[in-house]
Amino acid sequence: MSPFRLTRTLPEDATDAALRADVHRGLTGRPKTLPPKWFYDAHGSDLFEKITELPEYYPTRAEREILLARSGDIAAATRARTLVELGSGSSEKTRHLLDALTDLHTYVPVDVSESALTQAGQALAAERPGLDVHALIADFTAELTLPGTPGPRLVAFLGGTIGNLLPAERAAFLASVRALLAPGDALLLGTDLVKDEEVLVRAYDDAAGVTAAFNKNVLTVIDRELGADFEPAAFDHVALWDAEHEWIEMRLRSRTAQTVKVPALGLAVDFAAGEELRTEVSAKFRQEGVRAELFAAGLGLTHWWTDEAGRFALSLSVAR
Ligand code: SAH
Ligand code: TRP
Repeated sequence: MSPFRLTRTLPEDATDAALRADVHRGLTGRPKTLPPKWFYDAHGSDLFEKITELPEYYPTRAEREILLARSGDIAAATRARTLVELGSGSSEKTRHLLDALTDLHTYVPVDVSESALTQAGQALAAERPGLDVHALIADFTAELTLPGTPGPRLVAFLGGTIGNLLPAERAAFLASVRALLAPGDALLLGTDLVKDEEVLVRAYDDAAGVTAAFNKNVLTVIDRELGADFEPAAFDHVALWDAEHEWIEMRLRSRTAQTVKVPALGLAVDFAAGEELRTEVSAKFRQEGVRAELFAAGLGLTHWWTDEAGRFALSLSVAR
């Protein structure tokens, strides 16, 4: 059994304060919104794992296919001794990378979900003697302080999670990742690609209703944490393709006119019948767009790999 450490970089009350601020801003804004990182309590993390196994949700399988085919190339190009993974979740696909990175000394999974980090981190430490696993409970959209680990460092951001940030947030995020990279370090980025609208919408509105349950889980989190009285069944899950922004937008549509109380914030929030609350976007990319966003953040794209069907891409970039 190799060492497993878990570090909380945010005090628990900071998470509380951030949740309150986000929910207050989101529910008093027009249109109403809620930020995606609050989907991932223990139940939300479990639901997301179920999403990755749905027949309609192709991104996980497509990215795994690329990792299986290209992990050797990634290892040769980076010779990483430390792998930092942002939004690591279950770290399932990461195993292919861990298998290939023969010089690896330390794995640093970073996530807001403590349950996902503990499960994945403990299992990996037990399975891989000689690998130092240092998990960080942290918000990757805030300033990250990484443990002092040996270089070269590879920062991985998989799952297409970058698409869950809005364009301005993406630019700030990429610039902050760039600031973490020393010469010789690299960023491995997973991006879902623009494709047929029907395929995209189905990936976010599956027949079994798992994505709907995942989307509504954010209401359950707010009920529990802030004493709100959201009734998940009073909202419908909506996933639609925004062709102008090239993103899938997830919404919750109020089935009736209703007022939801959020006692911890002293709020009573009115919803009109049919009013929609935006919970998440999932942007889809093209190679030229990814290259340009990386470039603007001070990064230069060195490799671009897709799955056989061209649905998803992994790119490698370095500080320029
Ligand atoms: N990388 C995994 C999981 C993707 S789901 C995969 O590819 O399957 C997105 C993950 O990012 C979840 O585990 C969620 O808890 C985490 N996450 C979302 N917002 C975050 C934030 N702001 N800071 C840190 N982790 C976040
Ligand atoms: N990163 C995932 C994605 O954009 C997250 C996700 C998948 C998601 N399905 C979802 C978020 C449904 C909200 C609702 O593909």
